[in-house]
Amino acid sequence: MTEIIDGNEVGDRIKSELESSIGTLEEEGVTPGLATVLMSDDAASETYVSMKQKACEQIGIESFHHEIDPDAPADVLFEKIDELNEDPAVHGILVQMPVPDHVDERAVLEYIDPMKDVDGFHPENVGKLVAGNARFKPCTPFGVQKLLESAGVDTEGKDAVIVGRSNIVGKPMANLLIQKTKLGNATVTVCHSRTKNTAEKTRNADIVIAAVGVPEFVDGSMLTEDTVVIDVGVNRVDADNEKGYELVGDVEFDSAKEKASAITPVPGGVGPMTITMLLYNTVKAASLQHD
Ligand code: GUN
Repeated sequence: MTEIIDGNEVGDRIKSELESSIGTLEEEGVTPGLATVLMSDDAASETYVSMKQKACEQIGIESFHHEIDPDAPADVLFEKIDELNEDPAVHGILVQMPVPDHVDERAVLEYIDPMKDVDGFHPENVGKLVAGNARFKPCTPFGVQKLLESAGVDTEGKDAVIVGRSNIVGKPMANLLIQKTKLGNATVTVCHSRTKNTAEKTRNADIVIAAVGVPEFVDGSMLTEDTVVIDVGVNRVDADNEKGYELVGDVEFDSAKEKASAITPVPGGVGPMTITMLLYNTVKAASLQHD
């Protein structure tokens, strides 16, 4: 039987552990706080940010939300980050990506105080991660590690193939899986748009992580028996329903499930874990700033 890895269940367990850490911080007079900044009219970004805020409130993290007109000059965003960098009630800052074209995304990531960079995207935090001394692990790959752990997958010595090389998922995922740690020690291959034969690579993998942003890119024909399949994709595709769209992963679930020993669904797999690990990083940021 193929195991369906339930991200909501794993996320809820981690959230209840976080609630007790938050209780301890509260006793010491600290309420963890996360500031979210949205400079976009994109409906999906709006949804993600509001889900992050709600998740904070559910477990006792204070949430501060700021919206910036996407047509405003970049300076308005930088001034807001200045303010949040200085605010002692704000332990974590998340600027929802993408930002508008006239705003330099790289400059934004570098402008956030690295101690408040709960996304783990600041070059200082990327460097620490690569050096095996992570401060904040990027939320999505960190969540994938937690899902693998909960499914009882021992990554040591396994062949892991990551499809996708983004800064948010593919690259940090590869870094985490090659570390000399309990959830690392894998042999990692990263496939991307210039890879010659991705299917050949995924067919030889023990673990396939799809993070390419193409609906149903990985199907059952690209897998062999007993592969563990993690689907990071969240693609909105047109559908004849009330919303006018449905969410589809980067994996064709039905055919992949026939081959996989374990697989994450979309929705309800990696998505809830990304939010949970953001909460984890925010609590960690509050503890680090309190020490
Ligand atoms: N946009 C898509 N994923 C993310 C994420 O993990 N963090 C931020 N800040 N923006 C995103």
